[in-house]
Amino acid sequence: MGLKKTKVALIGAGGISYTYLQNMVDVFAILEVEGCADAVPERRARAASLFGIREMTNEEIMGDPEIEIVVNTTFPSMHYEITEQALNAGKHVYTEKMMATDFESAKKLHELARQKGLRIACAPDTFLSGPYQTARKLIDDGYIGEPICAVATVVRGYRNDQAQPIPRPGGLWAFGSALPMDMGGYYSHALVHLLGPIARISGFAATRSQEFTNPKNEYYGQTISADAPTSEVTALEFCSGAIGTLIAVGDSHDAKSSIEVHGTEGSLLCPDPNTFSGPLYLHRRNCKAPMEVPLTHDFNQYAKGDAPEWDERRKSIDQWKESRRGIGVADLAWAIANGRPHRCSAELGLHAMEIVYGTGVSAEQNAVYRMTTRPAQPQAIPPFFIGGAAEKSLDTN
Ligand SMILES: NC(=O)c1ccc[n+]([C@@H]2O[C@H](COP(=O)([O-])OP(=O)(O)OC[C@H]3O[C@@H](n4cnc5c(N)ncnc54)[C@H](O)[C@@H]3O)[C@@H](O)[C@H]2O)c1
Repeated sequence: MGLKKTKVALIGAGGISYTYLQNMVDVFAILEVEGCADAVPERRARAASLFGIREMTNEEIMGDPEIEIVVNTTFPSMHYEITEQALNAGKHVYTEKMMATDFESAKKLHELARQKGLRIACAPDTFLSGPYQTARKLIDDGYIGEPICAVATVVRGYRNDQAQPIPRPGGLWAFGSALPMDMGGYYSHALVHLLGPIARISGFAATRSQEFTNPKNEYYGQTISADAPTSEVTALEFCSGAIGTLIAVGDSHDAKSSIEVHGTEGSLLCPDPNTFSGPLYLHRRNCKAPMEVPLTHDFNQYAKGDAPEWDERRKSIDQWKESRRGIGVADLAWAIANGRPHRCSAELGLHAMEIVYGTGVSAEQNAVYRMTTRPAQPQAIPPFFIGGAAEKSLDTN
């Protein structure tokens, strides 16, 4: 009978678009990529020629009745506008994180989609990776007993000591681009996927201005005032009764990433949720040391550092060689086809934004913040073959 494909087009052919395009063109069979657009003509031309798709304008994408899903990989300050235009043009949207630069605007988009009977899906889709689906299966199957506590930590140096400014309006300090917003979603999506939604939070936030310290940088000597917290620590209470912490530090010299989930019978030590690869460790009660767990799900056919020599495209996507970004778009397409909820839901995206927003409110008001959003825990992906046939596990009702 064959598979009915879903036509998609991408807007924002910058850094991350290459891994999306590679996976949407080469890996996920349900997707048919019609074309891509970018405000910078050379960028859309390059991406279109690398992937053998049409070079398009935003208007052509919005006006093409065959395109069902718009993939919005513009930078954060453009997410709202492009998503709103696409919804008004009758398209479903898969948007990079966060959905908008502030919680209120994101809620407006969610409402617009609801009124129009359309779907918004929101990155990150990394919790659909082999390690995080395996971790979920271990929790659901009782390997760690009752989950009690989760500790998520991301530490980065979002500072400007490079010669070149970040090519994005406002750099990494633009509203909506500071670390808790930019990186927080990987951790909150992973936590909600593993343990369900969060009921209450309490937090502290620090806002640090950034000085340009490299004399080669054109802004040398200037200080940019950050307009949103650059580091946050949030205590979490899950609806299930589990508790946890989310530490999102953007002002450090260091780079660290971890998610630990501790239960009555064991602990899971999970890999960086900004990637698709392991290792995943399980440390059970009465075992001397953590054990690496074989993955029950996987879309990766090769390990990091071991990518095949494809063609010239490899140069553009080398840094993402173990990535399966775009799986969230494929899941959205399968969900539409099968009439089921998609996993990277708008509600989950809103919840992630509310954690950042609520942390600020809690810090300012010296009070515990009660979450107003309560997304469903995303359905676990059924385990299936590793590699090429793995997409079959998304074909569910
Ligand atoms: N680069 C990464 O490592 C990375 C990883 C994961 C997620 N993301 C997310 O992906 C998004 C994009 O990040 P990036 O690093 O690729 O940014 P980028 O700045 O490299 O690319 C964004 C592109 O969008 C284009 N654009 C902006 N406004 C537009 C408009 N109105 N119409 C058409 N094109 C427009 C820009 O010209 C640019 O080419 C961000 O939300 C980011 O948080 C980035």
